[in-house]
Amino acid sequence: HRHVDHATPEAVQATIDAGDFHPVIPDYEDLAACRAGGGYDVLTRLRAGGDWEEVQQVVSDSGLRGLGGAGFPAGKKWGFVRGYPGPRLMAVNGDEGEPGTFKDRFHLERQPHLFLEGMLISAWAVAAERIYIYMRDEYPAVLEILRREIAALEAAELIRPGDVILRRGAGAYICGEESAMIESIEGKRGLPRHRPPYVAQVGLFGRPTLVHNIETCHWVARVLREGPEILSAVERNGRRGLRSYSVSGRVARPGVHLLPAGSTIADIIEAAGGMAPGHVFKAYQPGGPSSGLLPASMSDVPLDFDTLQPHGSFIGSAAVVVLSEADSARDAALNMLRFFESESCGQCTPCRVGCEKAVKLMQADAWDAPLLEELGRAMVDASICGLGQAAPNPIRAVIKHFPEEVSGDQLR
Ligand code: NAI
Ligand code: SF4
Repeated sequence: HRHVDHATPEAVQATIDAGDFHPVIPDYEDLAACRAGGGYDVLTRLRAGGDWEEVQQVVSDSGLRGLGGAGFPAGKKWGFVRGYPGPRLMAVNGDEGEPGTFKDRFHLERQPHLFLEGMLISAWAVAAERIYIYMRDEYPAVLEILRREIAALEAAELIRPGDVILRRGAGAYICGEESAMIESIEGKRGLPRHRPPYVAQVGLFGRPTLVHNIETCHWVARVLREGPEILSAVERNGRRGLRSYSVSGRVARPGVHLLPAGSTIADIIEAAGGMAPGHVFKAYQPGGPSSGLLPASMSDVPLDFDTLQPHGSFIGSAAVVVLSEADSARDAALNMLRFFESESCGQCTPCRVGCEKAVKLMQADAWDAPLLEELGRAMVDASICGLGQAAPNPIRAVIKHFPEEVSGDQLR
């Protein structure tokens, strides 16, 4: 068994061709270690006669919101799904594709059973008969950990064979959009569906479906083991809870930093060890490319769901990328639009053609701001899903915050 780490693409391909690829598995808390610390006690107690509405109340009291990016209250979602007649299903979104986001991987490579127990508690709460985990194939170590630990749960008779099905994504960003993910699990091409109906009503195989992100399940387990106060008692800048900020870019210590929700970029850079040596803070992406860019002058804005709305941005999955004076905001925005152009599923013309057209317009020395704005409005108004609706955000951000970079006066 050969381990491949930091190898060249050619070396990795040769290893795969030889059928000899084994990802490096990090040290993680396995089922035995988890149970020794009280893991699965909550699940066992609930299955023996718990009241799902009491559990829903605890989750709601904690203030837990969906951590895939949209922040929909988790307890409320349970109520919707449970309100539709069964059989019901659950699908877990582990397709963490937002550029700059790696918090789900971080949690899974350390404590996969917090996720697995939280998932089983959520499935119990909505009386889901089967769970599909849609896992990003670019995380081979995580897939191996989940394969092992699902088998361990079956062996321990905490689940029956077939209760939890692990599905591999195939690298399409759009398959992280929940309805496209559901199409993909059903074996079809991952094209987002129109909403409503929401997946809570018509989801996987036409059944009411609870969709949670990996980290949401992680916190369900922690809230029920440790009490709702672990989230509700943490307060910063008037916001409550904790966020796993995925921090990358020009900071000294990139990584996942668990901080109070409502932390500012100044707090986050400090937690990440300050700026990388020799770099001066210029701008940041607060939550994935769809959130655009904010300037360093906005260092005191609490970064949480809802707080960035007045600035035409949002925190999403809290993928914070820090740029320095060595970086160009317009190049960063162009990179984001190229990403959307390549990842658009193509079913709506305003998104498919709009991304392509925007990339062309953004390559001019001086941007035609009115035309880009008109194009952006058409994309927002007429795209089916969040990809096309949010794709113009980086363009708007550069025009608003970094106009000098796109006026055509700059020496480039
Ligand atoms: P959304 O607000 O439309 O929905 C959020 C969730 O609430 C969904 O599960 C939806 O089904 C449910 N929901 C909303 N209203 C409902 C209702 N009336 N009845 C029943 N259920 C309802 O947001 P969306 O489009 O699902 O997610 C957008 C977010 O995803 C963005 O913030 C973006 O940052 C994030 N994202 C995260 C990625 C990642 O890798 N984690 C990748 C790409 C985007
Ligand atoms: Fe596909 Fe873009 Fe339409 Fe979303 S907005 S459904 S990605 S074409």
